[in-house]
Amino acid sequence: MDMRRKVLVTGSCGLIGAEITRSAARRGFAVTGIDNNQRAVFFGPDGDTSWVLGRLRADIPDYRHVALDIRDRDAVLALMREVKPDLIIHTAAQPSHDRAATIPFLDFEVNAMATLHLLEAARQVCPESPFIHMSTNKVYGDRPNTLALRELETRWDFADPADAHGINEALSIDQSKHSLFGASKVAADIMVQEYGRYFGMPTCCLRGGCLTGPDHAGVELHGFLSYLIKCNVQGREYNVFGYKGKQVRDNIHSEDVASFMHEFYKAPRVAEVYNLGGGKENSISILEAFAMAEAVTGKPMRWRYVEDNRIGDHICYYSDLRKMQAHYPNWRITKTLPAIFREIADGWAHRPTADPR
Ligand SMILES: NC(=O)c1ccc[n+]([C@@H]2O[C@H](COP(=O)([O-])OP(=O)(O)OC[C@H]3O[C@@H](n4cnc5c(N)ncnc54)[C@H](O)[C@@H]3O)[C@@H](O)[C@H]2O)c1
Repeated sequence: MDMRRKVLVTGSCGLIGAEITRSAARRGFAVTGIDNNQRAVFFGPDGDTSWVLGRLRADIPDYRHVALDIRDRDAVLALMREVKPDLIIHTAAQPSHDRAATIPFLDFEVNAMATLHLLEAARQVCPESPFIHMSTNKVYGDRPNTLALRELETRWDFADPADAHGINEALSIDQSKHSLFGASKVAADIMVQEYGRYFGMPTCCLRGGCLTGPDHAGVELHGFLSYLIKCNVQGREYNVFGYKGKQVRDNIHSEDVASFMHEFYKAPRVAEVYNLGGGKENSISILEAFAMAEAVTGKPMRWRYVEDNRIGDHICYYSDLRKMQAHYPNWRITKTLPAIFREIADGWAHRPTADPR
């Protein structure tokens, strides 16, 4: 009988899910992954993640894959009963705010309803097991854009010294424009917190900035750095939408996300919320990212400017990591921006040629 600790990872073929799956397997967990390749439904062939599943199966011989749809409440409960996981990591989602407007019901069913299916199944089967939910900084809506900013040569930055460390978890998620995606993620975020506060379950919401890594199937509507570097490597034109290309994002490698989750698993807390990003040191504007991509690959960046920012897009966002570091002093960012760029560029250069991307 297998006595190893068991983790259930939803969205196991996605950017974060695949990294979590690998990292949990390395740490000795028996991994059951759920993914029905819904990303290909959301984004078409460019979003297809079946190549990731192939790699997971090749790299992790006892990886167990279940291609169920987390919108299927009964199937989720049945699987939870069968697996009885010691840890649940929920990364399956419709992840694009632009896409959500065209598929509002599907977006809400996947992001909000299906999260409730998982929470309730966990409460019935394994309420003591930590439940880690990938939330997003889009739960803050466009409120970060109300903070005072200053314009520098290649980027926007916060003007008030009080914001010098970035955006912390106290920012209101209420009364701002979220996009339908942001709103469905708010519903999930609050529900995950509530299963902690109301039922005492060890739940946590990680409000991600830009999460990235070599397994990302970056597409124009989702996956900032992955898509930008893909354009550079493949000589494709990149569209910059508004804000003079000076909009700032903080980037965190999926391995650093995985290591934070492991820290939380080892010392879980109840109903926690963290802003999980690369922080100020791993923040970069689009213009700066072009320069870094060119420096890493030696190829020129082809791009054009469209004077039309995406609805609700943040002008400047980087996460204040101090709460995470105070609660989990062993955790820190290990992957710097140049290292991240190099890995992603290598990743795109070495994808199988049969891969339609
Ligand atoms: N990538 C980022 O920059 C970023 C930033 C902030 C927050 N997040 C959050 O992190 C989470 C993971 O994001 P990601 O970038 O890995 O996304 P992703 O699209 O790469 O992965 C999500 C995976 O979930 C699967 N999935 C979707 N709906 C499903 C369903 N109904 N049933 C089963 N599987 C389903 C998809 O096929 C996909 O493989 C999401 O909640 C997202 O909102 C991501």
